[in-house]
Amino acid sequence: MSSMTRVVIAVGGSVLVPSLEAHRLKEWAETLIRIHKAGIQVFAVVGGGGEARRYIGACRDIGLDEANSDEIGIMVTRINAALLIGALKEYAYPRVAESYLQAKEFGVSGRIVVMGGVIPGQTTDAVSAALAEETGSSVMINMTAVDGIYSADPKKDPNAKKFDTMTPQQLIDLIMKERMNAGSNMVIDLVAAKVTERSGIPIAVIDGRNPKLLEDAVIDGKFNGTIVGETAVSFPLK
Ligand code: UTP
Repeated sequence: MSSMTRVVIAVGGSVLVPSLEAHRLKEWAETLIRIHKAGIQVFAVVGGGGEARRYIGACRDIGLDEANSDEIGIMVTRINAALLIGALKEYAYPRVAESYLQAKEFGVSGRIVVMGGVIPGQTTDAVSAALAEETGSSVMINMTAVDGIYSADPKKDPNAKKFDTMTPQQLIDLIMKERMNAGSNMVIDLVAAKVTERSGIPIAVIDGRNPKLLEDAVIDGKFNGTIVGETAVSFPLK
């Protein structure tokens, strides 16, 4: 791989393909291409979104176990990844990477590399954190349907406070606390938080409902989300 700045951008399924009818593939492709053209090597990790949830619902209906349901979830993330590759056209490596090593291999082309899930028992947050470590990326940016990480669910708790920065250990504590409540849905999964703790590569959470906010941070240095990490992230990326 070249010595360019590398970045992993996790594009949540909920903001890329909220549903097949209301997808935002073109907008995301344009955004990622602008970052690529700014001289940054992009590894995009795509989530499953509402469609994955619907497929997993069907898995539950037929009594499929969790691991096999996850395999179907992974297939959906890879379909979304293939759609994004289609929208990125010649700017993307034409094949969905199915492992971290393959993503690194595809990265040698200098094109945008896209992947989805990898193995059962986790989400694409964990994929993104591990890929950041394997590719020596300077940051993992998580584009999701919230504007940052809060001390509690802001929809339920009026006293919830948004973190500007937090340590990986603080995130792990928060996830462990949240997991006690059934049905809670943390912004970032525990595996990703643990990987970030060991790698020292920070996570930046940015509101993905507006793709423009990604460019604002990466290219223009305007950032308004949450940074998880011991080391500061200096936006714009150079
Ligand atoms: P997502 O990463 O989209 O999970 O993967 P999610 O929790 O629904 O997404 P966000 O973070 O809330 O947007 C979709 C599903 O694919 C399976 C899991 O079942 C996951 O729920 N998956 C994904 C895996 O089993 N392994 C992976 O590496 C990735």
